Amino acid sequence: MSKIKTIKAREILASGGAPTLEVTVTLESGVVGEASVSYGASAGSHESTVLLDGDQKRYGGKGMLLAVKNINEIIGAKLLGLEAGEQRALDKMMVDMDGTENKGKLGGNAILGVSMAVARAAANEANLPLYKYLQQSFNLVPINTLPKPMIVMIEGGKHAADSTDLQEYLVAAMGNKSAAENIRIEMEIYEALKKILKREGKSTNVGNEGAFAPSGLSSNEKPIEYLVEAIKNAGYIPGVDAGISIDAAASEFFTEGKYNLKIENKVLSGTELIEYYLPWLTKYPMVSFEDMLDEDDWENWVELTGRIGNMPNIADDLTATNMKRWQKAIEMKAANAILIKLNQAGTVSETIDCCIEAKENSMWTVPSHRGGGESNDTFMVDLAVAVGSEYIKVGPTRGERVCKYNRLMRIEEEMEG
Ligand code: PGA
Ligand code: ZN
Repeated sequence: MSKIKTIKAREILASGGAPTLEVTVTLESGVVGEASVSYGASAGSHESTVLLDGDQKRYGGKGMLLAVKNINEIIGAKLLGLEAGEQRALDKMMVDMDGTENKGKLGGNAILGVSMAVARAAANEANLPLYKYLQQSFNLVPINTLPKPMIVMIEGGKHAADSTDLQEYLVAAMGNKSAAENIRIEMEIYEALKKILKREGKSTNVGNEGAFAPSGLSSNEKPIEYLVEAIKNAGYIPGVDAGISIDAAASEFFTEGKYNLKIENKVLSGTELIEYYLPWLTKYPMVSFEDMLDEDDWENWVELTGRIGNMPNIADDLTATNMKRWQKAIEMKAANAILIKLNQAGTVSETIDCCIEAKENSMWTVPSHRGGGESNDTFMVDLAVAVGSEYIKVGPTRGERVCKYNRLMRIEEEMEG
C-alpha cells in the first residue's frame, strides 16, 4: 500500500444549491481518491456536526470554508506520510484529534470527507472496486444478493413546501429479481403514479429528492392508496413485486410532547399516533416503517416495535448511525433495523461498525441518501453492497439520486462478470 502524499479540500455545491465539501487524497504512488460529503434537510439532533461558517455574507451562513481549512491545515498535516490502507487507524486518529462527542471541533463533514477519500484512494491503489476493497479492509463476508431499491415516490414534511406531514412514502422492491429489474419496475411505478396524480388534479412537481410533492392532500394516508394503485397500474402485484415503506421523520412534527398532523388538524400523543399508524399494517402491503416517532421518544419506539412484530422498524434520527445509540436501541428493543448515513456517523469505520452490529443481530441495514444536501458521490452504494444491506434508499429522480442506481447496476454487471 502507498502513503498519503497530499490531502486537499474544496467547497463544491450540493443538490440544494448550498455548499458541501469535496476532498482529494493523493498517494505517493500518484494514485488519487476523491469523495464528496452529503448532509440532510431534516437532520436529527444526534448526528455528527456539519460544520458551517456562519458568515451571513456567504451562502447565508452555509459556507464550508472553515471545514475546508480544517482539512487542508489541521487534518492533512497530521495524516501525510501515513499508510492509506490503515482506514480504521486513520479514522480513529481523526476522531481523537477532534476530541468531541459529535465531531463539533473539526466538523463531521471535514472528517468524513477525508475518511471517504482515503478509502477511495486505497481502493484505487489496490485496483479494486470500492465495495470489494471495503469488504477486504473490514473483513466483511461477501454476499451474493444486491440491495433492493426503496424509492421515495411522494414526499412531504421538510422536503416539500406544502405537502403531507409525514416525510416519505416509498415503494420497496420485493422478490428475487435483479437490481436492474427492480429499478425498472420502480421507475415504471413512478410513471404510473404521475398519471394518478394528474387524474386527481394534483401537482406533479417534485420535492428535494425528486419525488412528487403534491399539496392539497386530505390525509397522510392518501398517498399510500395512490402508491398501491400505482403498483397495480404499472402491472405489478402489491405485496409480491413491490410494497410500501414509510419514513414519517416524526421529529419534524413533534412539539411540546405532541405529534402535530397539520393537514388533518390532529394533535396526538405518542400512544395515539401508534394507534393511528397500526391499521396501515393490515390495510396495505407494508414493508417497513422508519422514524414514525420522535428521535428521543424511546418509550413509544419500544411500544411500536413490539406491536408491529417482525416488520422492520427502521431507526434513522433515533440512532443517527451512532454506535452508542444503536446499541441502546437494540438493547431496549426500540428498533429492529437501522438507516445508515455516512455523514451522521462522520467516518467510514464508525458507519461500517453500525452495519456489523446490525448483521450480528440479524437486523436490516438501509444506507440512505440525504434530503437537501446530497452530492454526486456514490460511496453509499458501494458501502451497501459491501455490508450486504437489504435495501438502499435513494431517489427517485434527479442526477444526484439516479447516479446511485446507475452505480448499483454497474456493480451488478461487474459481479455477473
Ligand atoms: P434528510 O432526510 O436527509 O433530510 O434528513 C432523509 C431521511 O430522513 O431519511
Ligand atoms: Zn429518515
